[in-house]
Amino acid sequence: MAVSGWLTLVFLLNTKVILCHLVEAPPKKIAIIGAGVGGSSAAYFLRQKFGHNVGIYVYEKGAIGGRLATVTVNGQQYEIGGSVIHPLNLHMQEFVKQLGLKHRKGVPEKAAIFNGDHFVFEETDWYLQDLFKLWWRYGFGLLRLQMWVEEIMEKFMRIYKYQAHGYAFSTMEEMLQSLGGERFINLTQRSVTETLQELGITQRFIDEIVTAVTRVNYGQSASIPAFVGAVAMAGVQSGLWAVEGGNKLVCSQMLESAKAHVIHTTVTSISLQQSGDKPLYQVKYENENEGGYDFYDIIVIATPLHHETTNITFSGFTPPLTPFAGQYKHIIVSVVHGYLNSSYFGFPDPKLFPFATILTVESPKLFMLSIGSICPVNITANYRRKQPQEAAVWKVFSPKPLAKEQLKTLFRSYYSVQVTDWLAYPQYNSGKGIPPIILHDNVYYLNGVEWTASAIEMSAIAAKNIALLAYSRWNQHLDMIDQKDLVHKIKTEL
Ligand SMILES: Cc1cc2nc3c(=O)[nH]c(=O)nc-3n(C[C@H](O)[C@H](O)[C@H](O)COP(=O)(O)OP(=O)(O)OC[C@H]3O[C@@H](n4cnc5c(N)ncnc54)[C@H](O)[C@@H]3O)c2cc1C
Ligand SMILES: *[C@@H]1O[C@H](CO)[C@@H](O)[C@H](O)[C@H]1NC(C)=O
Ligand SMILES: *[C@@H]1O[C@H](CO)[C@@H](O)[C@H](O)[C@H]1NC(C)=O
Ligand SMILES: *[C@@H]1O[C@H](CO)[C@@H](O)[C@H](O)[C@H]1NC(C)=O
Ligand SMILES: *[C@@H]1O[C@H](CO)[C@@H](O)[C@H](O)[C@H]1NC(C)=O
Repeated sequence: MAVSGWLTLVFLLNTKVILCHLVEAPPKKIAIIGAGVGGSSAAYFLRQKFGHNVGIYVYEKGAIGGRLATVTVNGQQYEIGGSVIHPLNLHMQEFVKQLGLKHRKGVPEKAAIFNGDHFVFEETDWYLQDLFKLWWRYGFGLLRLQMWVEEIMEKFMRIYKYQAHGYAFSTMEEMLQSLGGERFINLTQRSVTETLQELGITQRFIDEIVTAVTRVNYGQSASIPAFVGAVAMAGVQSGLWAVEGGNKLVCSQMLESAKAHVIHTTVTSISLQQSGDKPLYQVKYENENEGGYDFYDIIVIATPLHHETTNITFSGFTPPLTPFAGQYKHIIVSVVHGYLNSSYFGFPDPKLFPFATILTVESPKLFMLSIGSICPVNITANYRRKQPQEAAVWKVFSPKPLAKEQLKTLFRSYYSVQVTDWLAYPQYNSGKGIPPIILHDNVYYLNGVEWTASAIEMSAIAAKNIALLAYSRWNQHLDMIDQKDLVHKIKTEL
């Protein structure tokens, strides 16, 4: 009797301990700084984890969507920021499905690679012929490169399983280690050139094909790290898609679905108001003529914290929080409505110019990274691409604003030019490793993920990781964070 009574007591004590974990008072208010795809998907996933009682407040100083944005030409919108999504970007696929949005499939087109004098590669209508040409010029490089990208992607896709089971990581290094071991971490530290050379891929292939791809996707050479290089290569695979009506629709709809309060103002500072077991943070904001502040239990910063990209200051934190080392790269996007000067590309007769996308290699002669004829965000059933001699909407990427003479070189004539100067993505060789995710007990930083690779899906993955991490840390479910050997653990759980 006594023994059983004692056992009951132990049992009760144990359940009490367990219950304590379960009934941890939930957070009252969460602030998210930034309503790009990162901040918006963070709102969405935080709502899923913390339930309907917590207040989710999203601060946005510009337009919802951030680097997902459009401009209007002739009454139609065109993507000027993040524009293509990979078919295996499963969070974006899920958002579109859950939010009742639609895919906008690409319109077939031909691409070529220009070196300032002539095309070093031209795509034809016939896939096999292209393959043979590539093979002839570059040997087995293409096949090896494809296998390399596939292998990285296959391992990377494990993240969706981990996240579906609720597992989170406290740093990007922990996440990479869990997905692909030491090798994955190495991929963020060594250049794509060096890595591909080791695989036996020729310098010519790297200089012409790989460089053209890293230039169009990241405005940088093949000296960027191998991980982001692989993401760039995946960004030219087949089956790429976009969201009908514009990619930024995903952001506004996620915020709505998460019942987030959007506050259109600029956050100026974040301070630790009250420390202890559950600290409280103050967020200060400022518009042209008014300012204010509010208090939060959890903060997610979903905008890059580097010198040129932010003015947010931090106070009350030890050690102090300051912007991270490293710069963001300026990419100028010029959307030009006009007639391409096909002579510049060696085609005096505009009717015979077959390419819609022109990538480039590195050359002092070139003032642009790429140029492409683009389709509007809404594509009707009878949509057709413009004939080469017709006026079309072209998107030019360049490191510097195009001078008038440069525009006159690229275009025979034009009706309009709209220019956007983006702080687009990290300047990959300027940083010092990958920034942390946890800045303080309940302050999380999303955009460090961009230093492994900047892409729409990467921000969504980082957002889900932060929602899971914030939830598990709040409730002290430490067994859901940085677990080793997850591949096997998940197999046995199923
Ligand atoms: C030209 C270009 C082309 C690209 N192409 C592709 C592509 O084809 N495919 C792809 O996957 N990715 C692409 N990317 C990358 C992709 O767009 C980004 O990685 C992604 O959109 C980043 O989203 P984010 O929410 O993390 O950041 P952001 O979109 O930058 O969101 C941050 C938000 O925070 C707001 N903010 C900043 N400071 C404050 C403050 N103090 N107070 C309040 N609000 C603040 C900003 O206004 C912004 O809206 C491209 C990027 C660019 C620039
Ligand atoms: C990682 O890189 C280091 C040198 O940069 C090398 O010594 C090590 O073998 C690499 N590890 C793997 C698993 O490739
Ligand atoms: C474009 O597509 C979106 C999403 O399907 C739709 O909501 C919008 O009305 C469309 N706009 C036009 C001009 O067709
Ligand atoms: C930071 O403040 C300076 C001075 O007011 C301003 O010129 C700059 O544009 C601001 N930067 C950002 C990213 O808001
Ligand atoms: C077009 O390109 C050719 C060749 O580079 C150049 O001579 C010409 O001035 C350009 N502009 C026009 C309007 O043809």
